Amino acid sequence: MPGGAVIVHGTADINRIEAPVTMKAYLICAFAAFGGIFFGYDTGWMSGVLAMPYFITQYTGLPNPPASDTAAVAAFHLSARDQSLTTSILSAGTFFGAIIAGDVADFIGRRLTIILGCLIFTIGCIMEIASTSLGLMVPGRFIAGLGVGFISAIVILYMSEIAPRKVRGALVSGYQFCITIGILIANGAVYSTKYRNDTGSYRIPIGIQFVWALILALGLFFLPESPRYYVKKDRLDDAAKALSSVRGQPIESEYIQDELAEIIANHKYEMSVIPNTSYLGGWANCFTGSIFNGASNLRRTILGILLQMMQQLTGINFIFYFGNVFLTSLGTIHNPFLISILSALINTLCTPLAFYAVDKWGRRTLLIWGSIGMITSQFIVGIVGVTAGKLDAHNNPAVSSMIAFIMINVAIFSFTWGPVAWVSIGEIFPLPIRSRGVGLSTASNWMWNCIIGVITPYLVGTAKGDANLGAKIYFMWGSLCGVSLAFSYFLVPETKGLTLEQVDRMLEETSPRTSSKWVPHSTFAADMGLVDKIPGSSTEVVQVEANEKSIV
Ligand code: BGC
Repeated sequence: MPGGAVIVHGTADINRIEAPVTMKAYLICAFAAFGGIFFGYDTGWMSGVLAMPYFITQYTGLPNPPASDTAAVAAFHLSARDQSLTTSILSAGTFFGAIIAGDVADFIGRRLTIILGCLIFTIGCIMEIASTSLGLMVPGRFIAGLGVGFISAIVILYMSEIAPRKVRGALVSGYQFCITIGILIANGAVYSTKYRNDTGSYRIPIGIQFVWALILALGLFFLPESPRYYVKKDRLDDAAKALSSVRGQPIESEYIQDELAEIIANHKYEMSVIPNTSYLGGWANCFTGSIFNGASNLRRTILGILLQMMQQLTGINFIFYFGNVFLTSLGTIHNPFLISILSALINTLCTPLAFYAVDKWGRRTLLIWGSIGMITSQFIVGIVGVTAGKLDAHNNPAVSSMIAFIMINVAIFSFTWGPVAWVSIGEIFPLPIRSRGVGLSTASNWMWNCIIGVITPYLVGTAKGDANLGAKIYFMWGSLCGVSLAFSYFLVPETKGLTLEQVDRMLEETSPRTSSKWVPHSTFAADMGLVDKIPGSSTEVVQVEANEKSIV
C-alpha cells in the first residue's frame, strides 16, 4: 500500500505473549532447508566421478589398463592440474554466486533469488551432462557453482528471517542436516554407477541434481516471502500478510502486530544509524564502525567471515574430500570407500543432535565444546599415527583406533561447528546489511573450502616436493581447532532465544563473554518513540507511514 498510512499496533512490553510455533512454520523451514541438499550433493559427487574408469578414459583418452599393469594403473587418472581445476572451479563459482546473491535478494526478494539460483544451477548442470571434455565441464561447473552460491547464501537468510526465535537454531540446523544428506546421497550415487561402461556412469549422478532444483524451485513458488524483506522495501501491508502466513495467525492478531512493529522499529533505528543506501554505499556499510565495538557492522562482518573460515579450518573436509586416499595410505584398510561412506553416514546421523542442543545449550557453548572435542580427537589421531599406528608398524588395532577417533571427530563437528556456523551468520547482521553480510560470510566458507581443496593434496602428497605429512596433518587440524576455541571464547556472542532485533540490542550492550546473560529489557518500538499509550487502555499504537523515506 505505497503512499498510505499503515497502522501497526506495537507494544512496549517485552514479555508479551508470542505466537505459538505452528506446524506450518516447521514445514516452511524444512522445505527451504532442502537447499542444503544441493550444497552437499554438488560437493559430494566430484571426487567419486574423478575416479570412474569410463570418465577417465573419456576425458584423457587413456585406455582402462589391466590390473596386472601396475605402472599403467598408477598413471590412469586425470592430471593433478585437471583434478584440481574441476574440483575447485565449483567453489570459485559459489564464491561469486554468494556475493552477488545478497544484492539480488534485496532487489527481487529472498524467494525469487533462490528460484533464480535453481535456474542458473540447472543451466550449469545441463552443460556438465552434455560435456565429454573439460572444455564444457569446467564452465558448466562454474555456472552450477554460481547457482549453488545463490542458494547456499539465501536459504540461510530466508530461514533465519522467517523462523520463530525459539526454534530458529533447530530449524536452520535443518539446512546442515540437508547438506549431510546431500553428501551421503552423492556417495551412494557414484558408488552405484562407478563401474558402468558408458556415459551413464557420470551422467546419472550429475543428472540426479535436476530433481533437487525442480523440487526446490517449484516448492518455493508456494512459500511466502520473508516479511523482513517487505519491511526493507517499505511494503508494509505485504509484510503483514507474509508474517501472518509464516506464523499462522490473523494479521490483526496481537502476535502479528507486535512482531511487525518491532521489525519496523528496528529497521527505522538501523537506517538512522546506517543511512547510506546507494549501491556502493550499501557495500561500504558492511565495513563501517570500529573493530572494538561489538555492535559495529565491521565487527559483525568480520565475525561472519571468520566463523565460516574457522569452520573450514577445523579440517572437516579433509576426510570428505581426501578420505579415500588418506585411509589407503594407512596401509591396513581394505575398503576405504566403505569407511568414507561410514563417515558420511555418521555425519548425517549425528547432525539432528543439534536440533535440540543449539536452542537449549546455545551457539557459543556448542562452538566452544565442539572445538575442545575436536582438538582432543584430532590430536589422538596424530599421536597414534606417528607412534603405534605408523605404516611400518602394521598395527591393526592402532589403525582401527585412529579411524574410531576420525569418526568421533566427524560426529562432534556434525552437531557443533557444522550447523552453528550457519545458524550464527543468519543472526548477527542487522537488516540493512543482512543479505550482503550473509553473502560475504558464505563466500568465505567457499573460499576456504577451495583453498583447502587445492593445498591439502600437496600437504599429504608423497611426490617430490610434497610435504608428505601423513597422519601428522591431524596435528595441524587439531591446532587450528585450538584457534577456533580461542575465537569462539573471545569473539562469538550468544544469540539463542532472541529475536533478530533483540540480537542487535544485545550486541550493543554486551561483550561476547557476557552475552549469554543478557535479557531483553525494552522494545525498539518503545525506544524509537513509535509507541503511544492510548489513555485508559493497555493498547499501544505504532503508526507508520508506508512511504516514509527512513524505511526505504
Ligand atoms: C560445511 C561443508 C562440509 C559439511 C559437512 C558444512 O557445514 O560448510 O564444507 O562439507 O558441513 O557436513
